[in-house]
Amino acid sequence: MEDNIKLERGKKVLKITIGYDLCLSFNAPIGSPSPDFEMDRDTISLRLGNQSLKLDIKKEDKKIIITKKLGIKEKVLGFGEKALPLNKRRVRLAFWNYDHLGYNYYDDPLYLSIPFTIFVENNSAIGLFINSPAFCIADIGLSEYDKFIFEVHDEKCEIFVIFGPQISEILRTYLEITGKPFLPPIWALGYQISRYSYFPQDYVLDIAKNYLSEIPISALYLDIDYMDGYKIFTWNNKRFPEPKAMIEELHKLGIKVIPIIDPYIKVEEGYNIYEEAKTLCIKRDNKNPYITMGWPGLCTLPDFMRKETQTWWSSKIKEFVERYGFDGIWLDMNEPSVFNYKMIIEDLSTKFGLSEEIKAIIDRLVYILGSKRGVKANVLRNISPNDFFDLSVEPNVFHLLDNGKMTEHKYLRNAYPYFQAKATYEALKEIRKDVFILSRSGYAGIQKYAAIWTGDVPSTWEGLKLTLAILLNLSLSGISFCGCDLGGFVERGDYELIARWHQACAFVPFYRVHKDKGATEAEIYNMPSKYKKKIKEAIDLRMKFLPYLWHLCWKSHLEGEPIIRPLCYDFQEDEESYYIEDEYMVGSSLLCAPILEPNSKGREVYLPRSKWIDFWNGEIQEGPTYIECVAELPIFIRYGSAIPVKDGIIIFGEGDWRIYHDEKGKVAEISYKNNVLKQYGEPMEIRNIMILAQKISPRGFKANYNRLGTMIELDKTFKEIEFDK
Ligand code: GLC
Repeated sequence: MEDNIKLERGKKVLKITIGYDLCLSFNAPIGSPSPDFEMDRDTISLRLGNQSLKLDIKKEDKKIIITKKLGIKEKVLGFGEKALPLNKRRVRLAFWNYDHLGYNYYDDPLYLSIPFTIFVENNSAIGLFINSPAFCIADIGLSEYDKFIFEVHDEKCEIFVIFGPQISEILRTYLEITGKPFLPPIWALGYQISRYSYFPQDYVLDIAKNYLSEIPISALYLDIDYMDGYKIFTWNNKRFPEPKAMIEELHKLGIKVIPIIDPYIKVEEGYNIYEEAKTLCIKRDNKNPYITMGWPGLCTLPDFMRKETQTWWSSKIKEFVERYGFDGIWLDMNEPSVFNYKMIIEDLSTKFGLSEEIKAIIDRLVYILGSKRGVKANVLRNISPNDFFDLSVEPNVFHLLDNGKMTEHKYLRNAYPYFQAKATYEALKEIRKDVFILSRSGYAGIQKYAAIWTGDVPSTWEGLKLTLAILLNLSLSGISFCGCDLGGFVERGDYELIARWHQACAFVPFYRVHKDKGATEAEIYNMPSKYKKKIKEAIDLRMKFLPYLWHLCWKSHLEGEPIIRPLCYDFQEDEESYYIEDEYMVGSSLLCAPILEPNSKGREVYLPRSKWIDFWNGEIQEGPTYIECVAELPIFIRYGSAIPVKDGIIIFGEGDWRIYHDEKGKVAEISYKNNVLKQYGEPMEIRNIMILAQKISPRGFKANYNRLGTMIELDKTFKEIEFDK
């Protein structure tokens, strides 16, 4: 290898830096044990305890190529938002943030890029994080059956090899490197509503009130039609004559309000945002700004890669949020996505004088062709940024960095949303105690600043199944606070699907219904009672388990543990668990196996090695096993669990537990052994208990019921309770 390579040993990590001047660099955690390594020409051999890894690292054609042998049964997990199974083999993945409207299985890439993966072979896991926001490709056993080949299309990057052997340890270390997930405000766990787009003002208030007559909602989102001609930081005064009064009224109803903000700055003389940002934008060349197309028509984009732009953006966000009293920000189109094909139509039109009608026909044609966007991950071909030209900033336009150097977009595209979210986060942090940002795009580290949702998924049964897989891929990649458009975004989707989607995601951290303009009404007040009831029950169930989700948010924020995760995270030794992506664990205590097929009354459920209790009927199962389960939403509780729920606690089996509770995340210590339940630490208010699988009655307290599965009401918060056998 070349001389500009640096190796640093960190706690369970080896960091290899190639080249200089990365726009986004991360540190290895300090401490021991750290791996031993040897370098022999292009090969680095690493060892820690009984784990070892060999990497070949070469420079070729202005690329860095990292190769590793792929074991025949080796699992390849993570890699962020990928429309793929948990175990990614025989695929070629692109890392290039991409606006992938209506994606399906194996469509690649999607909106967010995380070049971090976890390899698992013989129950031993090793992580690899290749920090480069440039265009990258991972070929996982596709062109060569026995090789993992990662190409960085740049001459610099950082490579972190993270030792396990547990998946959970690797993820924790990865989060020490890139930053722990932000702590959301508690309201962000509630049911949130949105549509493209709610307006006018009176209608927005009516929507909120109609919802409230059915179900509690915690937040309402304003999509792009609130703006004047899609100009950011403006209002359409006809639709919203008194936005401030509207927001105040929504607040009185207990509803938070979050506006969408796109990165587009309309090119319009006299528009203050354009005038201020002209010099802070991405550049076509030395002198001229990069002009492209976005929602407002001709526009330019802030160059978030430098501090000056970040500071300007922060000041605009602060001003906007403070003036109207918003409770969070929704960042969209921040891959950044631009409508390049519209630009071409405009150019053609100037050249050949096309009529509006012809322009509309071409537009439609490109839209139809574009709906087969991206590439299929299992098709062998050379991929380049030009494959995604229709909706991406051109690879060779320029960013001006803080060090005064100009760098082409293709070398740092993927970090664009990271710096936008950072600037937004810093602005909100200055003015509010609680920060909430929802972002569509991102890069490694985005978890410090924003929640991620999975973009424009189709409202189909396949879309629903795929969503679960993507959410699990995200959560194994450090994105704890993730979610999706409940019901799907594009295409109509029927009520059964919308209801199942609400059930399937009942424990998914970010829980927002959102739909495209022409998609079926998913607003609960406009639904047949049969489906309305199912959705209400799903929301009620979520509300019941909200204290558990809140506990998990703290665990994720402080300890780097994913909130939801695939079964292989908790049952790494279980080979079967790597193939299950239609079930998920909520923390380590609850398994949710939603119904994802139309006209079904139940499903087959896989339960890994443990004792499990069916939450609905109290039947006990011994894993590993496949069982047939008939329930609206199959849920199982794992032996040895204590789950805080609304006003109470559910216990199955014996154990000692630490529970984060209340808004401040106080820690209560709870133990249940030999029929004695004790509480110490910072006491948690527990009014009810449900001890599963045992017929018990508490001594000293009057029990309302002591049937299996029924909450026992206590008359005060307890320190110690003894139960009769
Ligand atoms: C994008 C977003 C979608 C939003 C729409 C209009 O497609 O992904 O959520 O509704 O733009 O702003």
